[in-house]
Amino acid sequence: MASVTLEKLNKTFGSTHIIKDVDLRVGNGEFVVFVGPSGCGKSTLLRLIAGLESISDGELKISDDVVNDLPPRERGVGMVFQSYALYPHMTVYENMAFGLKLAKTDKQGIEQRVMNTARILQLEELLHRKPKELSGGQRQRVAMGRAMAREPRILLFDEPLSNLDASLRVQMRNEIARLHHRLGSTMIYVTHDQVEAMTLADKIVVLRDGRIEQVGSPQTLYQQPATKFVAGFIGSPTMNFMPAELVGGAEAGCRVRAPGLGELPLLQDASGQNAGAELSLGVRPEHLRLAEADGENAFEIVNVEYLGNEVYVYLEPRVGDTLLIHRSEAPSDWQVGQDVALRVDVEHAHLFDASDRALAIATQRHAA
Ligand SMILES: Nc1ncnc2c1ncn2[C@@H]1O[C@H](COP(=O)(O)OP(=O)(O)OP(=O)(O)O)[C@@H](O)[C@H]1O
Ligand SMILES: [Mg+2]
Repeated sequence: MASVTLEKLNKTFGSTHIIKDVDLRVGNGEFVVFVGPSGCGKSTLLRLIAGLESISDGELKISDDVVNDLPPRERGVGMVFQSYALYPHMTVYENMAFGLKLAKTDKQGIEQRVMNTARILQLEELLHRKPKELSGGQRQRVAMGRAMAREPRILLFDEPLSNLDASLRVQMRNEIARLHHRLGSTMIYVTHDQVEAMTLADKIVVLRDGRIEQVGSPQTLYQQPATKFVAGFIGSPTMNFMPAELVGGAEAGCRVRAPGLGELPLLQDASGQNAGAELSLGVRPEHLRLAEADGENAFEIVNVEYLGNEVYVYLEPRVGDTLLIHRSEAPSDWQVGQDVALRVDVEHAHLFDASDRALAIATQRHAA
């Protein structure tokens, strides 16, 4: 087990700056998940930690040692890829033993470690098969077994489940979580999947264009996103954003006027903002409520999606560019074509300034 520390880490490919001044600490035994849009640098960051790419600038430490120039094999890091990358001509046993052979482990040691790993991952029955004789989920388990057999201090995963079908993903996600509990090893995991990120992570790192946008627990990122980008990225369906104008200036408390909602007193601290400041109001679909139409500010239900346990209701006209979404538990009586009025759970509303930074909750006023 080990911690990983990134200090002002940078990566350039030719003249293209890909990873920009990344500072991060992954604690011993922690499960950290990297998320962010395609091309933001998640895989590159993982490959820098593994030693598969060279570091352009900054420092990478594993526990107390600077490992910038240490070859991958000596870093004590195992990596699992999306593509499995198993050797097709080798059996499951040979695939798992391969790294140990290269590391000159003796035969008895190899057998012991492979069998132990196979037991943990329930691969014992499959050790003599070739990869083509396995299902997708079994192949992914072998890929994990191969990374684990060397007993690395740190396990890195790059979208390991994205080639699996939905039910297998759920099953493997559960297995990875249990593996982490059992082994207690330090894990860094890249995914596009919201549910994987929220359920597996002790800590989520949101990356944007090669920089860290925010780091925090799943709950912190969901409830207190620091920027509009994080607010829009975490959570599905995505947060509703509406233009909101500050009414009467900060002295009058934080009151905003938003289309379709009239005037709302919010809990945020608007100091530093002028009267008339153009802000952005963010409301998650479950915090947008529907009421009987009251004549003014009416919205029309244009689509209702029934998902079994919950219902998504889509509303027109659009506000700014946003097609507003309301989410509620099923069943629901809302019908396409119905006119409705909107209400907002003020205590769950978010407010972003002109530079897309979240306004903090005004603690004193909140307590008063
Ligand atoms: N070897 C390379 N040479 C030049 N550019 C590269 C190289 N590897 C990655 N890049 C560029 O670096 C950027 C980040 O790539 P990276 O693969 O890290 O993104 P990602 O966040 O993992 O994206 P995805 O979610 O699509 O997997 C991209 O713009 C990519 O084109
Ligand atoms: Mg990637």
